Amino acid sequence: MAVLITGGAGYIGSHAMVEFLNADKDIVCVDNLCNSKAMALDRVRQITGKDFKFYQVDLLDIDKLENVFKENKIDSCIHFAGLKAVGESCEKPLLYYHNNITGTLNLCKLLSKYGAKKIVFSSSATVYGKPASVPITEDFPLSTTNPYGETKLMIERILKDLWVSDNEWSVSILRYFNPIGAHKSGLIGEDPRDIPNNLLPYITQVASGRREFLSVHGNDYNTHDGTGVRDYIHVVDLAKAHLCAIERANKQTGVEYFNIGTGVGYSVLDIVKAYEEATGAKVNYKIGPRRPGDIDECYANPEKAYKILGWKAENGIEDMCKDAFNWQKKNPNGYEE
Ligand code: NAD
Ligand code: WQD
Repeated sequence: MAVLITGGAGYIGSHAMVEFLNADKDIVCVDNLCNSKAMALDRVRQITGKDFKFYQVDLLDIDKLENVFKENKIDSCIHFAGLKAVGESCEKPLLYYHNNITGTLNLCKLLSKYGAKKIVFSSSATVYGKPASVPITEDFPLSTTNPYGETKLMIERILKDLWVSDNEWSVSILRYFNPIGAHKSGLIGEDPRDIPNNLLPYITQVASGRREFLSVHGNDYNTHDGTGVRDYIHVVDLAKAHLCAIERANKQTGVEYFNIGTGVGYSVLDIVKAYEEATGAKVNYKIGPRRPGDIDECYANPEKAYKILGWKAENGIEDMCKDAFNWQKKNPNGYEE
């Protein structure tokens, strides 16, 4: 029996594929490569020395997706596939709703039809909106501020309704905080298409000389140094959480929600300092205006994931920075030849 991995060529998916292959899981990957490159999959093979089936299929194409189910014995799914750029989701809400929601509906129809009623879904801390306090526990009120976040919340609700209608389902909702870093080999990592929106890929490009300086988005937040505080999590630790979640799903049904973070908050300036210390590279920065929609502080209470899944983050901020830099040095243009 195989685990279907949607979006397996992407940043988090490729790291999860490595962990699943290293754990001797049989996997089948589906990705339309709209935000990734097939080379990431070659690198996964290179790191693990193992092979797997890959289908370049869009989740929106339900007939082609069904072929994957016909040709393989799928019994569970890790669902990474989706569009994820907050700004773009505000400009193109229909694209985001259609891709993320319809894609998930198609997937769930087939998982149900083929009796593979176990899904681990990539949700996000964005579903907590502007939290009233930190650290955030899973029972905090939910709200969103952009169409991307709406799609995450809607999918969480769809998956819950699915379980309510059919208790054979096992649904694990993993709410990721801020994934950063890369595999220690430097063979896979984050490969943003244009100018990076997120902090770490931007810092990495400044540190490697590809960009002149980081613009710090505001220093008048209610935090220890005025810059935004987030819970950064090493992508390999995050990938491992999916293995723990699928092991649990194999044993029991239900819907469960887990924060996947470290429980530690770092400000933008903390990260700049940590990056410089970990890598020896200089990160030039200038203080700029606030970015619309940003919040002061966001970090997890990750205890539930430890208690129930037996998962906790192992890598600290130094490893996250070192590994991000190592990936950038070895692949200055990402997966471009
Ligand atoms: P990514 O863009 O690198 O990976 C997503 C993959 O899904 C890509 O390879 C893309 O080609 C594929 N995809 C998108 N739409 C598809 C479709 N219709 N059919 C088939 N494939 C499709 O993103 P990522 O950072 O690896 O994120 C993975 C998941 O985790 C996403 O659902 C994202 O929303 C969620 N998430 C990411 C972050 C983050 O900061 N990276 C944080 C929280 C949640
Ligand atoms: C982190 C901090 C910025 C860039 C986003 C999504 C969220 C989730 C993770 C998917 C903030 C500051 C950033 C820069 C800066 N993705 N910053 N200069 O906003 O916490 O979360 O990615 O689910 O939904 O919203 O992450 O890395 O963009 O920002 O000063 O050039 O860095 O203001 O305080 P964010 P981020």
